[in-house]
Amino acid sequence: MAEYDYDVLVIGAGPGGYVAAVRAAQLGLKTACAESRETLGGTCLNVGCIPSKALLHGSELFEEAAHGTLAKFGVKTGKVELDLPVLQGEKAAAVKELTGGIEYLFKKNKIDWLKGRASFQDAHTVDVAGKTVTAKNVIVATGSSVTPLPGVAVDNEKGLIVDSTGALALDRVPDHLVVIGGGVIGLELGSVWRRLGAKVTVVEFLDQLLPGMDGEVRREAGKLFKKQGMELKLSTKVTQATVKGKKVTLSLEPAAGGDTETLEADAVLVSIGRRPNTEGLGLDKIGLELNKRGQIETDHDFRTKVAGVWAIGDVIPGPMLAHKAEDEGIAVAENIAGQIGIVNHAVIPSVVYTFPEIAGVGLTEEQAKERGEIKVGKFPMLANSRAKTNRETDGFVKVIADAETDRVLGVWCIASVAGTMIAQAAQAMEFGATSEDIAYTCHAHPTHSEAIKEAAMAVRGKPIHI
Ligand code: FAD
Ligand code: NAI
Repeated sequence: MAEYDYDVLVIGAGPGGYVAAVRAAQLGLKTACAESRETLGGTCLNVGCIPSKALLHGSELFEEAAHGTLAKFGVKTGKVELDLPVLQGEKAAAVKELTGGIEYLFKKNKIDWLKGRASFQDAHTVDVAGKTVTAKNVIVATGSSVTPLPGVAVDNEKGLIVDSTGALALDRVPDHLVVIGGGVIGLELGSVWRRLGAKVTVVEFLDQLLPGMDGEVRREAGKLFKKQGMELKLSTKVTQATVKGKKVTLSLEPAAGGDTETLEADAVLVSIGRRPNTEGLGLDKIGLELNKRGQIETDHDFRTKVAGVWAIGDVIPGPMLAHKAEDEGIAVAENIAGQIGIVNHAVIPSVVYTFPEIAGVGLTEEQAKERGEIKVGKFPMLANSRAKTNRETDGFVKVIADAETDRVLGVWCIASVAGTMIAQAAQAMEFGATSEDIAYTCHAHPTHSEAIKEAAMAVRGKPIHI
């Protein structure tokens, strides 16, 4: 009889956990995955990446029709009206299809889905909804959830003060939506409701939006969102929210302290960050401590300090991104199977799916300067023929290279399709490209990606089109 029920037990079926389970099973390991949600796919598929992109896409189509972009290209639409239940229905259908797809993958790969919350008894024994299972290796992939803001109580059911989950499910377009936190969620979901007709005010604690991104990109993003009609209250904090009937009154203060002002809203989105899910996991029973940020620390192979226990995704340090979690899922399974699984954390792209999109990979200009001499090349989308033809000329591409070796250290884009463009930059950096390599790579014409080539040419001298 086998010593353990499973070779691998994964806790959590988000992009980290389900990918780890599939790869482990593909490598011949007997695998189970515990998930407490009704459906597989974690935050990303159920209440994150997928539903938000469905609403971003639908709201973009609505804005194109309602605000004359289609008409400008000769597409006459007549009176444009929003059918919010239909849009929400499309979102729900996409989520259902994709979460169902993971269930199919589990069946195909003979992965047992253990339904319920998992909690450690010891490093190889886990309780899932009252049943005990044992595994030689346990992967913690429990993800993250919304960071609460004291004084601003979220109630997604009421739909007045909501987190991202509630903001994805509003059944009306609020007249005035106040977003607390000008990060990725605030700007993406703020864009959705602005396009659908809400006045949107973003209250951000710092003096710029999108912390962690390149400084010039953050400043440009602020200008563009303002141009689109978002009101930005930077260097400002919310200290309290009071609900009266269908209105919320917020108390605001300058971040550095000072006079309080009030702001009335029809809906408030709290999006000030996310924190790792570790509560109730029984980590104390296996002697696994958390770091100062509440995360589980691992080594480069995703081993925790406890033998046989591994961790990946949002619950460990690094950017809270689905593709980072997925790559770690593949790597951890390969390491458990005795192969060499590696994730290059220096080259993880990040994308904000607003319009235009905002994307980056590698170091910001500020970080690169701290490390030594650099050269920077920039190219505006205004001078890119495809962007110009499509009438989507906001933004630029910036390539940052080491002054001595010319090796590319970072690439930043604001462009309608920046999320697609950044993949080539990530690939180039993964292969250790120089700016010269990119500048002398033939790019198809006319494409937005030619702006990356021209920015790389600008590192070394002059691009052709400016
Ligand atoms: P999760 O996806 O959070 O999955 C963890 C799973 O574990 C959950 O299903 C949870 O129910 C389960 N679980 C937790 N504890 C237990 C337990 N004790 N027992 C059993 N099950 C448990 N990232 C991107 O890269 N691109 C995007 O466009 C993007 N958009 C986003 C939009 C929104 C609104 C949000 C909130 C997030 C978005 N993200 C995006 C982030 C992305 O969703 C996360 O980085 C990703 O889901 C992390 O994957 P994970 O596997 O670590 O955890
Ligand atoms: P975030 O960390 O991106 O932004 C939070 C913002 O809130 C920051 O700008 C911060 O300065 C601000 N803030 C913090 N406390 C505040 C306060 N009291 N008052 C006002 N502002 C305050 O976090 P967000 O947007 O909640 O997203 C969470 C995570 O989800 C992100 O880390 C991101 O990785 C992931 N995500 C990724 C997406 C993507 O890849 N496109 C989309 C959505 C989420």
